[in-house]
Amino acid sequence: MSTDAECVLKGALLPDGRVADISIAGGKIIHVGAGRRADRTIDCTGLLCLPGAVDMHVHMRGGKDQGYKEDWTSGTQSALAGGVTMVVDQPNTLPPLTDKAAFAGRVAEATRDAYCRFGVNGYVSGASNIAALWEAGALAFGETFAAASSYGSAVSPEELGVIFAEIADLDALVTLHCEDVLPGDDTSLEAHAALRPEAGEKKCMEMLTARFPPGLSAHFCHLSSPISAEAAMAAMPATYEVMPHHLFLSIEEHGSVPDGHCKVNPPVRHEKVRKALWEMWDAIPVIASDHAPHTIAEKSQAFSAVPSGIPGVETMVPLLLAQVYRGRIALSSLLEKVVYTPAHLLGIPASTLMAGTPADLALYPRKETETITAELLHSRAGWTPYEGMQGVFPHITCVSGHLSYLRNEFSRAEELWVPGRGYKTSGS
Ligand code: DOR
Ligand code: ZN
Repeated sequence: MSTDAECVLKGALLPDGRVADISIAGGKIIHVGAGRRADRTIDCTGLLCLPGAVDMHVHMRGGKDQGYKEDWTSGTQSALAGGVTMVVDQPNTLPPLTDKAAFAGRVAEATRDAYCRFGVNGYVSGASNIAALWEAGALAFGETFAAASSYGSAVSPEELGVIFAEIADLDALVTLHCEDVLPGDDTSLEAHAALRPEAGEKKCMEMLTARFPPGLSAHFCHLSSPISAEAAMAAMPATYEVMPHHLFLSIEEHGSVPDGHCKVNPPVRHEKVRKALWEMWDAIPVIASDHAPHTIAEKSQAFSAVPSGIPGVETMVPLLLAQVYRGRIALSSLLEKVVYTPAHLLGIPASTLMAGTPADLALYPRKETETITAELLHSRAGWTPYEGMQGVFPHITCVSGHLSYLRNEFSRAEELWVPGRGYKTSGS
């Protein structure tokens, strides 16, 4: 006997080339094939259905001091409009998430305001209560600042060695921001890249790797060059991620925005390095956005005063899907990097577009790309370094079977928090 569905997405193209109706009930896909009887049917003819992306590195800002840059509503709406159904928030908030109370406050704010699924990481420093953060529901730890960056002070390798042992005991994942910052005048993109060189990423990674206790699950954040990616591979089973800004922007080529807008840590590199990073595409385990919004006014100051960071949660999948449509990369490789591997590393379920998996998915036009403009996007940042580039944006994004984004309208699903494995409810 066939079960009725709450919603059927009719006639969508699947990644394997089939055209099928996707029947959804109770937050899950219940059948893929001929549509079940449903309360609501949405015609998806001409649309490609992909599982929702898991962006394991975003800075959603919010709180009373950073909400002017972005908040959980604008940031997660931006995610949904870019096909991302789950974001993992970095804990370099004001104040940073070092204890249970700060962590609980962050989860409460996101529970009230978020439109897509979210996890929250615990901050790593000598002042952090790692065990308490794990019990409070931290999904992972870090990004851990082994070098100073915007809203993050450097923690020494010696101190990290002690904290790594604690994290390994919990069997939790630690994520690492590795750089070596040289002294000098930070006056241009070229200077910024020279003060935070690729070789410094490698050196820092090697210093930390030497302090990994047996069994530590480690993940290197935002590697900007083949040199650093090779260092990560030497540290296997550690994994790593690469960001769209290191694949699409360079010191020489960053479109129409001023240099300060592309200031980011680790920095964008020379065109030669950017191209070499593309050559490694197949080996890269994870792509994440490092969505780090700052306002146009902040990014327009004298270069040395500009905060580092680029908004990117909404453009990550669209930019890369446009590369799939151009024939440059395989769709299956994109899904591995933005859905399956991040979900696996975080230990969370992801949609495989098969019956029984969460109905977290997005529907994209099958052929047409769109020219990216800041006006098209939903981040409070109000600017994008990808202005004028081509992207493929979803028309519909579902979270847990809920039509969270439909024809530019947003609607909130229930129960969006994804706590980590250490989560213990009070009293248990
Ligand atoms: O460029 C960056 N911006 N790199 C980081 O590590 C932090 C981030 C931010 O929070 O602005
Ligand atoms: Zn970051």
